[in-house]
Amino acid sequence: MSNKNVLIIGASGGLGEYITKELAAAGYNLALHYNNGFKKLETFFESIKEHDVKHKTYKADITSENEISEMIRKIKEDFGTIDILINNAGISINGMSWKLSADDWNKVIAVNLTGPFLCTKHVLPVMKENKFGRIIFMSSVVPQLGVIGTSAYAAAKAGLGGLSKTISKEVIKNNITSNLISLGYFDAGLLYQIPEDIRRHIKETIPMKEFGNPLEVVECIKFICSLNSGYLTGQTINLNGGLF
Ligand SMILES: NC(=O)c1ccc[n+]([C@@H]2O[C@H](COP(=O)([O-])OP(=O)(O)OC[C@H]3O[C@@H](n4cnc5c(N)ncnc54)[C@H](OP(=O)(O)O)[C@@H]3O)[C@@H](O)[C@H]2O)c1
Repeated sequence: MSNKNVLIIGASGGLGEYITKELAAAGYNLALHYNNGFKKLETFFESIKEHDVKHKTYKADITSENEISEMIRKIKEDFGTIDILINNAGISINGMSWKLSADDWNKVIAVNLTGPFLCTKHVLPVMKENKFGRIIFMSSVVPQLGVIGTSAYAAAKAGLGGLSKTISKEVIKNNITSNLISLGYFDAGLLYQIPEDIRRHIKETIPMKEFGNPLEVVECIKFICSLNSGYLTGQTINLNGGLF
């Protein structure tokens, strides 16, 4: 059992639910972030309470640096420190590049790229003080493949690769690692924003012929969180059923 403190950004989402429940079962103390999804997050409380872990919820729109810095300040006050940051929030707005509005482009970049940068920026001083940290960015196979209609999402998720790599070099001396998990199509959350006929087509293109089990994402996260993974940094871990 771990007594480390984890901040899960986007705990209220589809994958967030699995990450939250499984890390509670593994003994991690949880700072659970949400934006509009408090009602969904509330439904996990019963299964968290089965485990003897501390948990608290924090609301923030990650497009606002003020809301993020206030959230981190409160978490530090409540938990003392933050050992692990999981940058898991994300949105997708699709459209052909020649039709996508600048407004939609900016929203996708703000949540998927600038938000994780700001969360990391404000958590790093806490981790540096503690001389320990694990930062995880949730990316996607989409920029690796090139998927029609996803230019903003692909650009933002590709950007996370550069961000994670840079951070890994900047804080290596502070015993802080930074890694990116690049996901194929997993059976949760955003997948269900894709129309059913396209979802069926996507499944056919996956060499494994099935969507990923979210519990495998959590297993990967648990390995990165563990004390045995200190030599793993600056890496992209591809979990995609053979798609890329
Ligand atoms: N599911 C997949 O197959 C898949 C594949 C590749 C990559 N991913 C990545 O994995 C991560 C989780 O995906 P998911 O499927 O679980 O998505 P999801 O169910 O749609 O959850 C998205 C999460 O992002 C949060 N969020 C959205 N806008 C926000 C904002 N402005 N400020 C703060 N939080 C915001 C949501 O918070 P509220 O609901 O509280 O507003 C929610 O917790 C995302 O980064 C996604 O790109 C998922």
